[in-house]
Amino acid sequence: MNIQQSAKFLQEKVSIKPEIGLILGSGLGVLVEEIENQVCIPYNEIPEFPVSTVEGHAGQLVFGTIKGVPVVAMQGRFHFYEGYDMNKVTFPVRVMKELGVEKIVVTNAAGGVQTDFVPGDLMLITDHINFMGTNPLIGPNDNTMGVRFPDMSEAYSKRLGEVAKGVATKLGLDLKEGVYFGVTGPSYETPAEIRMIRTVGGDAVGMSTVPEVIVARHAGMEVLGISCITNMAAGILDQPLNHEEVIETTEKVKANFLALVKEIVSEM
Ligand code: HPA
Repeated sequence: MNIQQSAKFLQEKVSIKPEIGLILGSGLGVLVEEIENQVCIPYNEIPEFPVSTVEGHAGQLVFGTIKGVPVVAMQGRFHFYEGYDMNKVTFPVRVMKELGVEKIVVTNAAGGVQTDFVPGDLMLITDHINFMGTNPLIGPNDNTMGVRFPDMSEAYSKRLGEVAKGVATKLGLDLKEGVYFGVTGPSYETPAEIRMIRTVGGDAVGMSTVPEVIVARHAGMEVLGISCITNMAAGILDQPLNHEEVIETTEKVKANFLALVKEIVSEM
């Protein structure tokens, strides 16, 4: 893998040394508008970087500051369902680590499995269940990046979770909490699958995040995860699911989401 090559290219182009990495989910890329002193680098200009294909994903790294804190944001991520292998899906996380990022905020759009949730809720991810049928660390382990068998008992930092909850309280926002259940997609789940997910402890379901978080933990980064519940998962309501609904909901919660993440970044 040519992580160093990508990182070197970026370091030559950008003088900002990011402390926090942001991975922005479907419809949540608007957060980059809050980044000051922006330097944007399209993925297709970065040597060795995968290139994104899906519409609604701009596909660039945005360097800059949020409330004075140096950050790098991925506007558009690589999903396993697009056909990227796990090395490609998680490559940007490794590049962030190489750039000196030690803390990462991962966001996503997710279906609500827990019946108390409503579309538009924001959920602090307290843990995840990897149901993607694979693991990004399969293959020879590079001991310089992390250990062969990384501990996942605190995949999502308790400390950062407390920071997020404190910020939500301060801003008067309702922040739910729960377990993110990662699937490959791209088909949405069946109602039977959603019943299974609920039975085994999933509160929200989505098609991203798990690979990036595994790789971030392997690299010793501290992780904060936030899901935007964009729809109720299949079978909960008597209506079909569609991607437009997902995007419409992110549009509606944009202001709350931005306020929350911006303030969290300044306090983490
Ligand atoms: N299922 C899986 N992924 C999702 C969903 C869903 O209902 N909503 C947004 N991403």
